[in-house]
Amino acid sequence: MSVPPRAPLPSLIPESAPFSVEQRTWLNGLFAGLLSLEQSVTPLSLEQAAALFPGGLDLAGGGAPTAQEEDDGAPWHDPAMALDDRMKLAEGRPLRRRMMAAMGQQDCGQCGYTCQDYSDAIFSKKEERLNLCVPGGKETTRTLKVLHQELGSAPAPAAAKTPDSKSPASASAAPAAVPGAAGCSREAPAEAWFLFRTRLNKAGSEKETWHIEIDLAGTGIDYTVGDAFGIFPTNDPALADAVLAALHAPADFPIGERALRDVLIDGVSLGEAPDMLFQLYSYITGGERRQKAKALAAGEDPDGDVATLDVLAAIEKFPGVRPDPEAFIEALDPLQPRLYSIASSPKVNKNRMALCVDTVRYPINGRARLGVASTFLGERVREGDTIKVYVQKAVHFGLPADASKPVIMIGPGTGVAPFRAFLYERMATKAPGRNWLFFGHQRHDYDFFYEDELAGMKAAGMLTRLSLAWSRDGEQKFYVQHRMREVGRDLWAWLADGAHVYVCGDAKRMARDVEGALVEIVAQHGARSTDEAIAFVANLKKTGRYQQDVY
Ligand SMILES: Cc1cc2nc3c(=O)[nH]c(=O)nc-3n(C[C@H](O)[C@H](O)[C@H](O)COP(=O)(O)OP(=O)(O)OC[C@H]3O[C@@H](n4cnc5c(N)ncnc54)[C@H](O)[C@@H]3O)c2cc1C
Ligand SMILES: NC(=O)c1ccc[n+]([C@@H]2O[C@H](COP(=O)([O-])OP(=O)(O)OC[C@H]3O[C@@H](n4cnc5c(N)ncnc54)[C@H](OP(=O)(O)O)[C@@H]3O)[C@@H](O)[C@H]2O)c1
Repeated sequence: MSVPPRAPLPSLIPESAPFSVEQRTWLNGLFAGLLSLEQSVTPLSLEQAAALFPGGLDLAGGGAPTAQEEDDGAPWHDPAMALDDRMKLAEGRPLRRRMMAAMGQQDCGQCGYTCQDYSDAIFSKKEERLNLCVPGGKETTRTLKVLHQELGSAPAPAAAKTPDSKSPASASAAPAAVPGAAGCSREAPAEAWFLFRTRLNKAGSEKETWHIEIDLAGTGIDYTVGDAFGIFPTNDPALADAVLAALHAPADFPIGERALRDVLIDGVSLGEAPDMLFQLYSYITGGERRQKAKALAAGEDPDGDVATLDVLAAIEKFPGVRPDPEAFIEALDPLQPRLYSIASSPKVNKNRMALCVDTVRYPINGRARLGVASTFLGERVREGDTIKVYVQKAVHFGLPADASKPVIMIGPGTGVAPFRAFLYERMATKAPGRNWLFFGHQRHDYDFFYEDELAGMKAAGMLTRLSLAWSRDGEQKFYVQHRMREVGRDLWAWLADGAHVYVCGDAKRMARDVEGALVEIVAQHGARSTDEAIAFVANLKKTGRYQQDVY
C-alpha cells in the first residue's frame, strides 16, 4: 500500500496511555479530526485507518457503528489493554460488540469459541455461561453480567441451550456448539495417553518448563502445525482435601450422582474465588462479615486482600461459617480446559504430539499456589495415564501455503513451541523456503530449549538463521526485539523477499514490543515514515503475513 509521506502527528494521547503504536496513531488521527485540528495535523485517511483495522472501521459517521456492525478489527482487542480502557473504546458500539470488547484476549480459543462467536451466542441467548473467558477472569464475567442486563427479558431463541449448562458438577461441560468427532472440540474430547515429560531447563534455572509427549494412537485426532491442544486438567487432590477440611464436609457428600471430593478434583475451579461464592457467604453470615462478603461479591476489596483469595483462602476468610456443600459447589466456576501450542508435526509422526509447558507456581501467604493445568502436566499426571484432550484449530496461525516463502519466527520462552512444529513440518515436507528463528529466554546456560535439535537443524542448513537473546545474562535486559533491531537490515531484506512473520508467547508485553520493533525496522530500513511503517505492518497482518499465537 502506498501512503504519501507527511509530517508526524503531534500526539493527543498521553504517552502513558495503554495503547499500542497502531492504536495511538489511529486515535490521534481520529481525535485530531474530531477536534478540527486539520490545519496543524493530518488525521489518518479512511483508507489508512482501514488498513490499520482490517476488519473495517466506519469512521464516516464520526465513530458510530456501521449498519453491518463490521467493527471487529477495532483496537479494543489488544490483550495488553486494561478492561476499562477497552470498554471506553467500545462505547457507543452495538451491545454484542461491547460484549466482545469485554473478552480478555482476541480469539485465544480457550472458551471454545472465537470472541465474536461467544459474544454473538450470549447476545442471541444461546449461551448462558458468562464465565467462560479464562484470560478475562472475573472482570470479564462481571462486565458481561452488566451488559447481559441490557438484553432485557426477551425470550431466548429456541436453539442450543443444553440441560446441564449450569452444573459444574458435570465433569463434561455443556456443549456450546454441535459436537463433532471425538478430539475435535472441547465439547467432545478424546482420551489420549500421556507418554512422558522432560525438563527443558537445566538445574539452576528460575523456570520449570517441560517438553511433554502424548500418544494420539487410536484417538482419531488429526491436527495441523499451528493448532493448539486442549487439556482437561484436574485439581491437585491435596488442595481438594484442604477445601474439604475447611468446609468440614465429608468427602462422599453426594453432589448429584457424584461424591463431593471427586467434583472438587475434576468439576470446579479452585483458583480465583468467584463473586458467586462471596454472594453465598453474604447470605449465610451476618453483620460485618455479611457486609464484607457483599462488597467482595460486588468486586470491591474491603481488606485489600482480594488478589490472594483463591477458593480455599475465601473459605478461610470466613472461619466457622459452614455453607451447604451443594450450594458451595453451585457457587463455583466450572473447571475449564487449557490450551497449549502444539510443538510437533504430524508429518513426522502423526501419533506423537509434543507440547512445551511452563509450570505456574507462586507462593501467597506461605501457601504454594499452583497453576492447575501446568502443574497437572508438569507433576501430577503419570506416564501411561489417559488424559482428556482435543485439538483447537488455529484461527489465522499457520505456515504459508507456498512452501518456498521464507518464514521469520519470533518465539521467546514457550513461544518456541509452534516453531519447533513449523521447522519439523518444513523439514518433513522438504519445503524450500528459508527459516529464521528468534528465540530468547532468561539465561543461555539454563534456558536454551531444544538447543541440540536447533543446532542440528542449523548444521543441516534447514534452520537458515538462529538469533538468540538472553534477558538475564547481562547487566541489562536483552530481549528478542533488541536482537531484531541489531539485524534489522537483514530482517527487512527477508520481508522484501516476501517473508511471513510469526510471533508466539507472552501477549501482554512481548507481543506488542516485538511489533513496535518491527515497525521501527520497516521505517528505518524500508525508508518509510513511522505512519507508513505502521500501515505496512498492518497490511502484513491483513494479508496473513504477520500472524500471532499469543497468550
Ligand atoms: C492459544 C494458547 C496457546 C498456549 N500455549 C502455551 C504453551 O505452549 N505453553 C505454555 O506454557 N502455556 C501456553 N498457554 C497458556 C496456558 O493455556 C495456560 O494459561 C497456562 O499454562 C497457565 O494455566 P494453569 O492452569 O497452569 O494456571 P491457572 O490455574 O490458570 O493459573 C494462572 C493464573 O494464576 C495467576 N498467577 C500466575 N502467576 C502468578 C504470580 N506470580 N502471582 C500471582 N498470580 C499469579 C494469574 O492470575 C494467572 O492467570 C497457551 C494459551 C493459549 C490461549
Ligand atoms: N503476567 C506476567 O507477569 C507473566 C510473567 C512471566 C510469564 N508469564 C506468562 O507465563 C507463560 C510462560 O512464560 P514463558 O515461560 O513462555 O516465558 P516468559 O516468562 O514469557 O519469558 C520468556 C522470555 O521473554 C522475556 N521477556 C519478558 N518481557 C519481555 C518483553 N516485553 N519483550 C520480549 N521479551 C520479554 C523474559 O525475560 P525476563 O523474564 O528476564 O524479563 C524471558 O527471557 C506465558 O503465558 C507468559 O505470558 C506472565
